[in-house]
Amino acid sequence: MADARPFHWEFEPPKIPRERFLVEGGVALDGTIRVSGAKNAALKMLAAATLTGERCVFSNVPEIEDVRVMAETLSDMGVVVDHPEQNVYEVSAGDVDWLFVPLEAAAKMRASFMLLGPLLSRFGEVVISNPGGDRIGRRPVDLHVDAMRAMGAQIDYRYGYYYAKAPGRLRGTEVRFPFVSVMGTENAMLAATLADGHTVIRPAAQEPEIDDLILFLNKMGAEVSRTYPDTIEVVGKRRLRGAEHSVMPDRIETGTFAIAAGVTGGHVVLEGADGGTIAALVEVLEQTGISVTTGDGRVEVDARSIGPGTMRPVDITTGPYPELATDIQPPTTVLLTQAAGDSRVHEAIFEDRLEWTGELAKMGAKIDLKGTQRAVVHGPAKLHAADVEISDLRAGASLILAALAAEGTSSIGGAHHVRRGYENIERKFLDLGARIERVQEGELGNSG
Ligand code: EPU
Repeated sequence: MADARPFHWEFEPPKIPRERFLVEGGVALDGTIRVSGAKNAALKMLAAATLTGERCVFSNVPEIEDVRVMAETLSDMGVVVDHPEQNVYEVSAGDVDWLFVPLEAAAKMRASFMLLGPLLSRFGEVVISNPGGDRIGRRPVDLHVDAMRAMGAQIDYRYGYYYAKAPGRLRGTEVRFPFVSVMGTENAMLAATLADGHTVIRPAAQEPEIDDLILFLNKMGAEVSRTYPDTIEVVGKRRLRGAEHSVMPDRIETGTFAIAAGVTGGHVVLEGADGGTIAALVEVLEQTGISVTTGDGRVEVDARSIGPGTMRPVDITTGPYPELATDIQPPTTVLLTQAAGDSRVHEAIFEDRLEWTGELAKMGAKIDLKGTQRAVVHGPAKLHAADVEISDLRAGASLILAALAAEGTSSIGGAHHVRRGYENIERKFLDLGARIERVQEGELGNSG
């Protein structure tokens, strides 16, 4: 299917409070923090809860803006969402009276499209906005739509919305993707749990968040299994039941703080972390000379004896799991500015995920872009404070890391982007001895 254009006619993004981070660099981070639940698992589980009318209870849900948006989107459709205590969400989708996911939700968060599969499969119809682009490049949803069509759905695209119908039930089938897609795999998998018959998804993405989602689905009474590393099979059921689940730790947050230790020449212990899910990053950190110990639900990173400026350069390439995650590429790029020599970065997943390095350059980083997806990072660069602007979530966390390693006090605008995916990031940095504060400024429009 052609790459459908998002529809922005008459759409006014809501005003959201504008915030900045003020970060005074030069402190080697030292201490212990607890890693939060995984954003990219929690969001899909909240969507999956619409597969049943019974109550689903989630713990270890990160308190982040994207989760709040997903909860609000569900509430707007008539789903009962309770938030009885910090990090706990309860979802009851007994009555869904409005099978409509508006542009307002899609503009804030691409993961709103995760409602396509479960709503279509359970209720037989949904009207859902095209989530369109993002600041990290064109991000189409054709694979999701093609997967639903392969399962028998009729989907029309009009005025920025997909009108999806599944007369009768969706049918189990072989869903063949041209390449690996995380949410494409998840959407097909959720739809298949209530489809008539057996579905085979391949190549299926291998991200650990997908396996955590499978655990939850099977607690709901679904029959989902990863039969080969790149194959997921689902036997459809007539109905699913409520279930409880504790969300896995966030591996991108784990990686971000691991790199924070490295880039400041510090020592950080991450509790409640799963070192196995960041193996590709651990390899990169060890190649630079940073010491990493994993096991027993903790990750310990010690860069005190190597420190910025003396680390070894490393060439990195992002890829689908188990390769190095694209979400950890921006923080890793910051680390490489402190290596003694040139490192090459190849961002193989997204088109524009190196653009933000223009902001990093304002802090003294020496980075040559080779097209849009490759760069050479010349290290070691002496980073200095600057006034910079965040364009997306991961770039935001990375600019904080750069500011922590820089001399002087940096002012980082667009702090709301970081709130989307990191729970209380400044509190965690403060606990590690960083000098960081979040300050309010007037108001600005959301950029999703
Ligand atoms: N793609 C298509 N058509 C589709 C779907 C994807 O062409 O229908 C392309 C994308 O444009 C991209 C590639 O396929 O070039 C892979 O994208 P994928 O579908 O795997 O990404 P996603 O599912 O949209 C999730 C995460 C991202 C993470 C990527 C890759 C969530 C909510 N988002 O996105 O996380 O970068 O997988 O691992 O799970 C983040 O957390 O900051 C973030 C952006």
